[in-house]
Amino acid sequence: MNIKDIHENWTALGQDDPMWVVLTDPAKKNGGWQPEEFFATGRGEIRDVLEKIKQAGIGLKFGRALDFGCGLGRLSQPLGEVFAVVDGVDVSASMIEKAQAFNRLPAKVFYHLNVRTDLNTFAADSYDFIYSAICLQHIPTKFQKAYIAGFMRLLRPGGAACFQAIHAHGWRQWVPDMAVDLYRKWKNRGKPFIPMHGVPVNQVRAIIEAGGGKVQKIVTTPYGGFESRFGHDVYFVIKSIPA
Ligand SMILES: C[S@@+](CC[C@H](N)C(=O)[O-])C[C@H]1O[C@@H](n2cnc3c(N)ncnc32)[C@H](O)[C@@H]1O
Repeated sequence: MNIKDIHENWTALGQDDPMWVVLTDPAKKNGGWQPEEFFATGRGEIRDVLEKIKQAGIGLKFGRALDFGCGLGRLSQPLGEVFAVVDGVDVSASMIEKAQAFNRLPAKVFYHLNVRTDLNTFAADSYDFIYSAICLQHIPTKFQKAYIAGFMRLLRPGGAACFQAIHAHGWRQWVPDMAVDLYRKWKNRGKPFIPMHGVPVNQVRAIIEAGGGKVQKIVTTPYGGFESRFGHDVYFVIKSIPA
């Protein structure tokens, strides 16, 4: 998929049942999520992540944060409760439109549509924290790598990133992204679909280091429901302060 296809696919996915597209609990399909319950999951997740960052020995500053692949702002909103300013970024026009409608903190949480394969419209060295969950795993590998390089460019020296991705293993690691997308397009007969793409851990590590970052910790676990194809990786990263 090119970026125009990605934009159209996620804009279509965000139209009808967007909360389920974000959190695909089978019991919540067709409007089963209530907004309070949906947004409460984000508050719990951000509380846990900030605790894990502390435990990893990373000292955060609470100035500016970026939530990459923000969807409806499930995670941007609780980030806005602890950071001075939060930028939520997404490729889907419908998700951004709805995130704006759900925005309880419009003076500090800002949503941006980014139909690009990079983050070059955001200023370098300007974020204290970058977070991304259940987003990179839906993006073709070569673009994931460009966005991760972008995270490193955007972090201020001393800033930290925590992001989740998956890596393919077994037979799945030998299937090119293009073949997976073609099969999915054929199977879904032109309807929008949720793609899955891995990125190898050693390649992510190399991008982080090339961008002046240090991997503080990687937590790898089996990816529930997709164990035969993917492992689940959470990266804790610091951008080094030049000597
Ligand atoms: C499963 S949702 C997760 C949303 C949010 N991170 C959360 O956990 O609540 C995945 C999101 O990633 C966004 N996304 C997919 N490809 C993207 C890209 N290339 N750039 C930015 N966002 C993207 C989708 O539009 C969608 O809103």
